[in-house]
Amino acid sequence: MCGIVAYTGDQPAKGILIEGLKRLEYRGYDSSGIFILDSPPYLARSVGKVAELERRVWNSAPDGVAGIAHTRWATHGKPSEANAHPHTDCGSKLFLVHNGIIENYQLLKKHLVETGHQFKSETDTEVLAHLVEACYQGNLQVAVQKALLQVQGTFGIAVMHLDHPHTIVVARRGSPIILGIGEKASLAASDVSALAQHTDQVVYLEDNEVACLEPGKFSIITLDNRSVSRGTTSLDWDIESMDRGSFPHYMLKEIFEQPEAVENALRGRVNHSEAVAKLGGLESVQERLLQARHLIIVSCGTSFYAGLFGRYIFETLTDMTVETELASEFRYRKLNLRQGTVVLAISQSGETADTLAALREAKRKGALVLGLVNVVGSTIARETHAGVYSHAGIEIGVASTKSFTSQLTILTLMALLIGRSRDLSYEEGHEIIRALEKVPDQIREILKQANHVRELAEKYCHADHFLFIGRKYQYPIALEGALKLKEIAYIHAEGYAAGEMKHGPIALIDPKFPTLALALEDGSYERVVSNIQEIRAREGQILAVTTERNTKLGNLVDDLIYIPETHEAVAPLLTVVPLQLLAYYCGVLLGRDVDKPRNLAKSVTVE
Ligand code: AGP
Ligand code: GLU
Repeated sequence: MCGIVAYTGDQPAKGILIEGLKRLEYRGYDSSGIFILDSPPYLARSVGKVAELERRVWNSAPDGVAGIAHTRWATHGKPSEANAHPHTDCGSKLFLVHNGIIENYQLLKKHLVETGHQFKSETDTEVLAHLVEACYQGNLQVAVQKALLQVQGTFGIAVMHLDHPHTIVVARRGSPIILGIGEKASLAASDVSALAQHTDQVVYLEDNEVACLEPGKFSIITLDNRSVSRGTTSLDWDIESMDRGSFPHYMLKEIFEQPEAVENALRGRVNHSEAVAKLGGLESVQERLLQARHLIIVSCGTSFYAGLFGRYIFETLTDMTVETELASEFRYRKLNLRQGTVVLAISQSGETADTLAALREAKRKGALVLGLVNVVGSTIARETHAGVYSHAGIEIGVASTKSFTSQLTILTLMALLIGRSRDLSYEEGHEIIRALEKVPDQIREILKQANHVRELAEKYCHADHFLFIGRKYQYPIALEGALKLKEIAYIHAEGYAAGEMKHGPIALIDPKFPTLALALEDGSYERVVSNIQEIRAREGQILAVTTERNTKLGNLVDDLIYIPETHEAVAPLLTVVPLQLLAYYCGVLLGRDVDKPRNLAKSVTVE
């Protein structure tokens, strides 16, 4: 959620800042604002979409060559113009934007009010502006450093002051800030997508660091006043991939990019002669990993369902005991992170606060902590001991789609790597690899049914409730399919282990409560068919996903979606695709903002 863009250079800042906010808007927000340092200084804030802010500022904003801008995802104070960022100090000389939560803002605000500061908003952020003002004695970087030493909570901030027209000070703790350094300009943003078209030289700020930006140069100090010497790294980012092309929505584009996402996840990571995976990011810890006996997978949302799939695939291919835990619940567990325990954090964004907190807790307790992350250089990627990048490419739609199938692919490779060092035979390993390598073309086959799925969406999109059921490897997919329908179409949907139907949920079934059943001809097929018959006996509508040659289900269900045959453990990479399409088309038919669903954000950087 929320986004920061900052620019100081030799070009008018307004176009760069607005374009940057648009690159960040997929992260979710409710209001936005911009400050441009000019004479007079220019501040504009607006509720709603960035386009609204753009419409207001485009003709009125000056051509000043330095400024900061923000998209807000409100935590303290409702979405309003007064609560939107940038916030200013009493003297309206200092301007500040912030991502995160200032946990001790009330105490700080009380003290500031007692010393004469006057506030204009309900936000925690405004406290920062006045705190920096109170610390300011001419050096902005030092003032920010002193102010942040008093702060508890998370922040990514950018600050400007009228006394320093070409200087921008940025800082971070728990909310990402990346610097972009060009020949004659310096930028900062909360996500590389806002920097990529201006420079490929970036610097990742670490927690409790304060950077001072001037055109073409930067310096970094820590909150405890140590100077940091850090060079730039090159960003291998393809701007074209950030555009929608001929697709009406990013979500549909990214669903259709899944064949390439799986190919990218596999590329260079399979050793065919030994039927084993090669994961360069794990080589530094491979010896310890291959001896591990216990795996705990922590993640959130869709990434949690990938982790649930991971439990099945690791238990099938290795002899490890595997647990999955919601990252937000991890801190309440008394987990025995004994010797030989590996904790795996799965995250598309690499910035999810709950997952970051969980991995830090696991590190503190001595576990080997690995990451499975999509965004290169993200905080989770940098804080784990080692890890594997998804290489799914930038995912703009709030819904995780191609990153999910990429996660399943890499989890299978990780389990193969460990399994082949234990009891998994060459033939078993080769069978998995062969099945994985067929997946891209099989997904392409499934995508040819998009119109069929759209027709099904027309039939089912007015349901108020939906049940998704599956067994074993298809159980996580049932959960993921339900989440997609909830978050994209705003339809209440529950994912359930099919075997649980008779323990309660079947009471919900009636002609207005449809069920999507994942009924592949695998080891659990007969039992799923029994569940389907139980639903049918109560006149529930059934939409089933099954394997291509299965002709037995037609008279039992109302509608069918066929997928190609494959290995049971690889089938989830196929069955999830029609469920993503169903949620997408239901969302479009119901007029939802499918790329930026209400209340959601692409990266949840608050706990
Ligand atoms: C899934 O479509 C959602 N976007 C959400 O559940 C997401 O998976 C969750 O917030 C975790 O995000 P992460 O993978 O970036 O950590
Ligand atoms: N806590 C701040 C506010 O509510 C910042 C929220 C955000 O990260 O956008 O304004």
